[in-house]
Amino acid sequence: MSLSKQKPDLEDSINVTEAHGRLVREAAACSREKRLAANGSEPISLWVLAACGFVALIAGGILGGGGKLLAYGSTFRPGYVRDPAPGAAAQGAQPKEALAAYMAKGAKIYSAKCQGCHGPDAKGDGANFPSLAASKWVIGETERFAMIILNGLQGPISTGKSYGAGMASQGAGLSPEDLAGVMTYVRNNFGNSTGDVISAEMAKAAMGISDARTKKGQQATADELAADHLKALPGEALDPKMMVDPITLAPTAAPKP
Ligand code: HEC
Repeated sequence: MSLSKQKPDLEDSINVTEAHGRLVREAAACSREKRLAANGSEPISLWVLAACGFVALIAGGILGGGGKLLAYGSTFRPGYVRDPAPGAAAQGAQPKEALAAYMAKGAKIYSAKCQGCHGPDAKGDGANFPSLAASKWVIGETERFAMIILNGLQGPISTGKSYGAGMASQGAGLSPEDLAGVMTYVRNNFGNSTGDVISAEMAKAAMGISDARTKKGQQATADELAADHLKALPGEALDPKMMVDPITLAPTAAPKP
């Protein structure tokens, strides 16, 4: 006999065990049923949600690709540099005295461009490469020295000796600051001490003079150097104590006390 057809028998006392069992079975059946929602408010499948999100991402990428939707550039002011906090030490490279700054620049250029032949101590090797220490053409007229670096040299050199095929031009890729730095460095190092700072303006003038040579593209020779370049480069050597930016080598205003 099924339970549902069972009519309450008022005379019988309730069978508690049976009633409890019925209750448990019905509760289990209920919980197996899907919860029904009003039409239109049914929950959507997770897959549909994920697919929509994916489409939104792609669409956002395409629409925002022109730099509008997903571009954060407009959040920043171009060229904005935050002011240092009041009282904080000044940021960035500190100005240096010209001689030290040009020497530091020149040391880098020397090791990249000259050291391979003239050696770390600039003494040469006695056979293929001459010494730059105490060389008259290094510590002498600045225009002659610049022409040697920019155009190379076909001996004889200052000592009257010649070394093989001579020195090739080292001017490629040199900026005026590089040239000024390496000239200042060699003139004030390795036992040389002219004490002067070849300015970037002088080096720039040297590049102009080099470009205007009649033998442009050929190595300089002792004859040409003596005839055309026995001069100081136009422009003023810098005051060695003047303060300059160690990176650009441009003179800076005196630092604030
Ligand atoms: C590829 C090797 C090589 C490199 C790199 C080189 N030199 Fe030379 N340099 C020579 C040679 C060789 C001579 C001798 C030329 C000759 O006899 O014709 C010479 C000669 C010189 C002289 C003449 C010295 C004198 O007393 O007459 C100077 C100055 C000089 N070099 C400076 C430099 C500087 C500065 C650099 C770097 C910017 C440099 N050289 C890079 C090989 C080189």
